[in-house]
Amino acid sequence: MSGSRKLNILGIESSCDETSVAILSDDEVKVNLISSQHFHKNYGGVVPELSSRAHLQIVKPLVDSALQSVNININDIDLIAATSGPGLIGALLVGLTFAKGLSFSLNKPLVAVNHIEGHIFSGFLMDTKPEFPMIVLVVSGGHTLLLLVESFTKIFLLGTTVDDAAGEAFDKVSKLLGFGYPGGPQIELSALKGDEHSIKFPIADLKDEYNFSFSGLKTAVLRFVQKNYSDKNIPENDLNNISASFQKSLVDALIQKVSLAISNHKVKSISLVGGVAANKKLRNEINNLADQFNISCIIPSLSYCGDNAAMIALRGFQLYQSGVRDNLCVKPYPAIHENHFLRIGQD
Ligand code: KG4
Ligand code: ZN
Repeated sequence: MSGSRKLNILGIESSCDETSVAILSDDEVKVNLISSQHFHKNYGGVVPELSSRAHLQIVKPLVDSALQSVNININDIDLIAATSGPGLIGALLVGLTFAKGLSFSLNKPLVAVNHIEGHIFSGFLMDTKPEFPMIVLVVSGGHTLLLLVESFTKIFLLGTTVDDAAGEAFDKVSKLLGFGYPGGPQIELSALKGDEHSIKFPIADLKDEYNFSFSGLKTAVLRFVQKNYSDKNIPENDLNNISASFQKSLVDALIQKVSLAISNHKVKSISLVGGVAANKKLRNEINNLADQFNISCIIPSLSYCGDNAAMIALRGFQLYQSGVRDNLCVKPYPAIHENHFLRIGQD
């Protein structure tokens, strides 16, 4: 990298149902715009084709607004970072292709960013930075990952879910309780009014030390509802108790494994990231756990928990600094693949 001038990084995120554009000056966020596709609510989940079309409509205006809000010209952008996967392939194509077009026409470097890596390092968007080595819990709609992170390039997967992701469990239980999509925020709201000790839902007891399983919990909620409410009419008070008890079991399951990971590894910090990191009970319990172990705890602010381009730009900047450059042949990919995920495996 030349001289001490800070780089203007343009980040573009379009992996699912949020189009987001951010501009960073090195690692400092100047603007982070997020346009959420709320219309998916009507369908009970994300409709991939509609998602792609909505990204296509909004990505250019969003880039224009981001540039305008920080009062810089597109030619002042030094680096373009865009999510290349994992995610919905059509949605990814929109953001990545747009980024390629900008990179080509402006003759500026392009870095393709793994969405999960974006989440993993999103704690570094905060004023107080996490310290290595750290345990990172990624909890989103598509992923539940427990990681030991030793540096920006050394990331070890300790455990993952063997079935549903944590956010997926929130969404599925929300649907069966009649709350709709996305489920997390609505279950959380309902849980606030309920008694979390009223129903004992199970926590999966897996042989693998650090793996998670949430489909049994979801089925237990389903069975409870089928058994007790044959007319599908659940009184509000009961709904609140079910939400609170489900949320407690899910959070307890996460905390058990995180606690074990901290006990078994000498770490300086814990970071909770991803869409489900918006959950207040989970945030509180992770904070308490960090206090117990006397390590620091970094949880991004709400706008950096869900999908956002600031984390993509930041990860793009880190990769760029370690020499990564992508060309116009870089392709989007729908699922985590060894060759894509955590692609720099060494310092
Ligand atoms: O990271 P994210 O925005 O998108 C993915 O990459 O998946 O995560 C979305 C997930 C959804 O499943 C949503 O229900 C969940 O995060 N979520 C929450 C809360 N806010 C969002 N789950 C629990 N409590 C919340 N407050
Ligand atoms: Zn995400």
